Amino acid sequence: MTRFQLTRTLPAGTADADLRADVLAGLTRTPKELPPKWFYDARGSELFEEITRLPEYYPTRTERAILRERAGEIAEATRARTLVELGSGSSEKTRHLLHALRPGLEDYVPVDVSESALTGAAEALTAELPGLRVHALVADFTRGLLLPETAGPRLVAFLGGTLGNLLPAQRAEFLRSVRALMEPGDALLLGTDLVKDEATLVAAYDDAAGVTAAFNKNVLAVLARELGADVHPDDFDHVARWDREHEWIEMRLRARHALTVKIPELGIAVPFAAGEDVRTEVSAKFRQEGVRTELAAAGLALSRWWTDEQGWFGLSLSTAV
Ligand code: SAH
Ligand code: AVI
Repeated sequence: MTRFQLTRTLPAGTADADLRADVLAGLTRTPKELPPKWFYDARGSELFEEITRLPEYYPTRTERAILRERAGEIAEATRARTLVELGSGSSEKTRHLLHALRPGLEDYVPVDVSESALTGAAEALTAELPGLRVHALVADFTRGLLLPETAGPRLVAFLGGTLGNLLPAQRAEFLRSVRALMEPGDALLLGTDLVKDEATLVAAYDDAAGVTAAFNKNVLAVLARELGADVHPDDFDHVARWDREHEWIEMRLRARHALTVKIPELGIAVPFAAGEDVRTEVSAKFRQEGVRTELAAAGLALSRWWTDEQGWFGLSLSTAV
């Protein structure tokens, strides 16, 4: 039988001081900004899963194909007894890895801010991988993770290109903190979306069915529910643009007209000029050398690099040095 345990290191809902601090700081500065982790309430996690099935959103299916093909090699190279996955979401792609790592793998530790994603994933895995211990952590992976005591070697997986949702300085700090969780002999499996033509990139973040727009606007529903904000999704347009200089996609919410958002829980009223943006996400796209350099700066040596035929997505394995 699969053994499942869930540890919550985050408070729920309005008690969340981080949400209040992020919204206060982000909406009172110029230009306005909100961190992307607030997309992922239960509805946001569902919308993300819908995004992964869109024809325009190539990263998930591309990374899944690489993982499916390389899972055996990864298992052989790492011989992991514990798999820690950061930002695990539905753990859907991870199944390939879990199957390849069995029977040596004893523990799977999925870490996510979304409790609904973690419990949904655990249900599916319970049925599929009898005997595996699943220790889910509701936690923010940017804030000093405390992992359960499990056997080494450990493989830490960070898939989907979520590293690109951190700004460069946050990425450097995050990679150093991941390295600090690792012992010599442990490995990091990192998925990074790669630079490609602008039209393909923009379409992936501005799909015809409007699912990404709904995902972007979901942060407004979180502000309304958790902080009492009187904000309506129809007041904003979804914007996705390619920033050539930084090589990242930016998602923004653009005010359709001048408006004021009252946020009673914070005691503030936030004015928006017509056409003013709030940046809700960056999604950086990488090149192999950049990934190698960022890993090296954190004390991680890239040992394997896999990509798809089109060179659209990179999966790398690196070891603690
Ligand atoms: N790894 C999955 C899901 C990617 S979506 C895949 O490749 O498809 C990004 C996931 O990271 C979401 O499940 C979201 O809830 C989680 N997440 C975002 N910011 C986070 C943070 N700061 N700490 C922990 N989880 C986070
Ligand atoms: C989770 N992350 C890697 C996604 C991305 O592509 O940056 C989130 C996302 N945003 C819009 N669509 C998907």
